[in-house]
Amino acid sequence: MPIVSVLSLKGGVGKTSVVLGLAGAATVKGLATLVIDLDPQGNATSILAAQKPKKTASDVLAHPTLDTLHEALTACSWEVAPGEVDVICSSPDLIKHDSFRDAANFHPHLGKALRRLEGYDLILIDCPPSLGSLTREALSTSDQALIVATPSYFGLQGAERAAVEIEEIRKKHNPTLHLLGVLANRVRSVSEEHDFRIAELGDLFGKQVLKPSIPDRIAFQQAEGYGKPIQTMNSAGAREVSQIFEKHLNKIMKATR
Ligand SMILES: Nc1ncnc2c1ncn2[C@@H]1O[C@H](COP(=O)(O)OP(=O)(O)OP(=O)(O)O)[C@@H](O)[C@H]1O
Ligand SMILES: [Mg+2]
Repeated sequence: MPIVSVLSLKGGVGKTSVVLGLAGAATVKGLATLVIDLDPQGNATSILAAQKPKKTASDVLAHPTLDTLHEALTACSWEVAPGEVDVICSSPDLIKHDSFRDAANFHPHLGKALRRLEGYDLILIDCPPSLGSLTREALSTSDQALIVATPSYFGLQGAERAAVEIEEIRKKHNPTLHLLGVLANRVRSVSEEHDFRIAELGDLFGKQVLKPSIPDRIAFQQAEGYGKPIQTMNSAGAREVSQIFEKHLNKIMKATR
């Protein structure tokens, strides 16, 4: 059961969209998937949660037991078989768990309970766009980290900072954590600036840049607006992007075997 943190320390680069795209690809394969929304903004929760949760990610962090985790499992609003996608919801009070401590003085909680959870083929964690205890909780409990970066100066900066953080957490808390790769998102095929930044991403991360990157497509906003997986949208852009998510999902599943 791979546990994958999707992160960047830059906001708005597409972390939640990538989590939802991968979860959608997992439903196509019939994989039982759990999405954990560790972002106090709750964007993944607002798309996925079919009902008000009994317990949230904030409760799980306050009482990291298997019982609390089970109570926090919430059904998904997507039209999928029961248990195919579940979500552990965010709530505004999740922010109280996001204190800043350096990696050495941070003590992870989530992993204790999550490592004992059974019944899922894949767990995806949507991280907040900041470096604090929530992102560290996610990394400390994950096998794989997937950095999302837009091809922009700030996007690359966010990716570099995320990579440094992954390495710190790997050394201090979670030796099994590895960087799956850096995924460029919202790439425009006719932009010199994007070409330049993608080349720069290659210089920074080499083979860790995941191919294919994700193009800028309106299908993302459509899927978001309908609250449905992008895989169910009927457009050329949605089909193109769905194939890309399928490829990246395969990499995730293969990396953990
Ligand atoms: N490849 C894409 N093409 C077009 N729009 C996209 C793409 N990826 C993401 N978006 C849009 O960009 C906006 C921000 O995406 P998203 O919320 O996934 O980013 P985020 O990194 O999770 O943001 P935050 O840091 O606030 O959590 C959304 O409206 C989403 O639909
Ligand atoms: Mg987000």
